[in-house]
Amino acid sequence: MFETKSGVFLIAGLFFFAIAFLGNALVPMMMYRDLPELTAEQLVNPHVMEHFRDLSERYPESFEEHFVLGPTEENCAEALRLGRSVYVGEACWHCHSQFVRPVGNETVRWGPVAETWEYQNELQRPVLFGTRRVGPDLSREAARRSNDWHAAHFYRPVDTSPGSVMPEYPWLFDGAVYRPNKRGLALITYMQFLGTQLPTYPYYERWESDLDGLHPGVGIPKERWEQMQRAYRGAEEASTSASIEEDDNTDSPATEGDEKKEDAS
Ligand code: HEC
Repeated sequence: MFETKSGVFLIAGLFFFAIAFLGNALVPMMMYRDLPELTAEQLVNPHVMEHFRDLSERYPESFEEHFVLGPTEENCAEALRLGRSVYVGEACWHCHSQFVRPVGNETVRWGPVAETWEYQNELQRPVLFGTRRVGPDLSREAARRSNDWHAAHFYRPVDTSPGSVMPEYPWLFDGAVYRPNKRGLALITYMQFLGTQLPTYPYYERWESDLDGLHPGVGIPKERWEQMQRAYRGAEEASTSASIEEDDNTDSPATEGDEKKEDAS
């Protein structure tokens, strides 16, 4: 048997099949054997509810239209399910992973390394590990950004992230960025869920502390924010001085007119 080429291929084939079966079927079965699989309802927690309620206040018209009973836990579970299927349907997983690896300082960027039990729930059937990372990992996305940041970003990513290659998703809105539709609201809820399961949530203390009163919820590094503020103020000053100059040029007749008015009164 080993003398023939086909014999070698047969043995090699069986060997690789056995390894794949062990790695992809037996090991996961053993790892998940004692962990109950959670439903979307069981995944609803106070953190994601906070964001769900915020959505109902921020976009009251859209929210009342699509979630008639308001920000209840049942509605939140429904939003999580729908949000996940939008995530799958729009192929977000093509560019985003949901798995923090213990290598390459990933924990510095995205928080704690992913653990087995995090994937033992309805929203990870099948698992959304993702295959590549054109964009950042999203498994700890909750509270990194505010709800309206997500809305603006889904509507037109380059508005919040200049140069972004992420596609626009205008069909998640009823014609305007301030009117996310049901799928839009659900996807934002799903983003605000990712990571809330872990006891160490939230990962972005910066969200609350560093940016105090400046721009809550955006979660961009402080230095970058200050840099943007300076650029913004610079632009504002430039535009006011430009308009003063303009006024100067056209001033004489207007001033004459004003003087005449004053005279008349
Ligand atoms: C073509 C690849 C691509 C696709 C498809 C894509 N994204 Fe992105 N995404 C990116 C890139 C690149 C960034 C980083 C720049 C930016 O913020 O837009 C990003 C950033 C993000 C962020 C911000 C992460 C953060 O906090 O910095 C979120 C949230 C996000 N994407 C969600 C989604 C969702 C949900 C979908 C599907 C509806 C999606 N993305 C589809 C490439 C993609």
